[in-house]
Amino acid sequence: MLFRSLLTALPCAAAVLSEPLQPRAMTDFMIYAYGPSAIGGFPIFAENNLAFVTSRTPSAFNSSMHNVTFDSLTTHGNFTATQFDNGESLFYIPTTSGQVGFTNSTNSSVITTGFGFYGHTIYVDIDDTLETQWFAQSTSEDDIWALFWGNTTADAIPVSLRTVAPS
Ligand SMILES: *[C@@H]1O[C@H](CO)[C@@H](O)[C@H](O)[C@H]1NC(C)=O
Ligand SMILES: *[C@@H]1O[C@H](CO)[C@@H](O)[C@H](O)[C@H]1NC(C)=O
Ligand SMILES: *[C@@H]1O[C@H](CO)[C@@H](O)[C@H](O)[C@H]1NC(C)=O
Ligand SMILES: *[C@@H]1O[C@H](CO)[C@@H](O)[C@H](O)[C@H]1NC(C)=O
Ligand SMILES: *[C@@H]1O[C@H](CO)[C@@H](O)[C@H](O)[C@H]1NC(C)=O
Ligand SMILES: *[C@@H]1O[C@H](CO)[C@@H](O)[C@H](O)[C@H]1NC(C)=O
Repeated sequence: MLFRSLLTALPCAAAVLSEPLQPRAMTDFMIYAYGPSAIGGFPIFAENNLAFVTSRTPSAFNSSMHNVTFDSLTTHGNFTATQFDNGESLFYIPTTSGQVGFTNSTNSSVITTGFGFYGHTIYVDIDDTLETQWFAQSTSEDDIWALFWGNTTADAIPVSLRTVAPS
């Protein structure tokens, strides 16, 4: 929580950040959500081009659930997302709050740029502030959570998104 608040508050231009903010291209990575309790490094998958996390393994997925691999070609840039069996698109967060997803056409309600890494942790650079407002929202299925940007409900679970699988 401290880390999250700290990241949220840090101005991007601060020289102190030059060390952990490694400018780099990174390809073919998966993103895992880590929460305080039930959510122990579960991968992002896509369904109807919206982002979810699950404790299921891909072998337990059905045809509408697509696992996702990401490419980041520049620091603070877009994340291109390749959904298994469902083509390539851009990872987005809503401009205000709501479910995170994948799109080919941007508009003013979504943000598709500013994604970067603080170590292995993913932030979004919004107006020079590094924000990590990731939340998991339970769904009607025990082992599936919708991935949200912004806290929209009382039972939303704050999560951090990391590029490393649980060990
Ligand atoms: C993604 O899902 C497909 C089909 O279920 C599976 O063959 C593939 O190994 C999965 N990839 C990863 C990286 O989990
Ligand atoms: C696939 O599984 C998800 C999650 O359990 C469910 O919401 C969806 O309706 C299923 N889709 C199909 C085509 O079975
Ligand atoms: C994503 O960013 C890369 C690197 O800046 C750029 O080459 C590419 O055109 C962008 N893709 C889209 C779909 O905007
Ligand atoms: C984006 O376009 C690609 C190529 O046409 C397609 O395969 C993919 O399903 C599209 N994704 C979205 C989210 O519209
Ligand atoms: C903006 O793009 C998002 C993601 O593709 C889409 O869900 C939404 O309907 C679009 N909004 C408008 C006003 O076109
Ligand atoms: C999310 O918002 C609700 C309602 O405002 C609040 O009760 C809850 O404590 C918040 N949770 C977090 C993790 O910020």
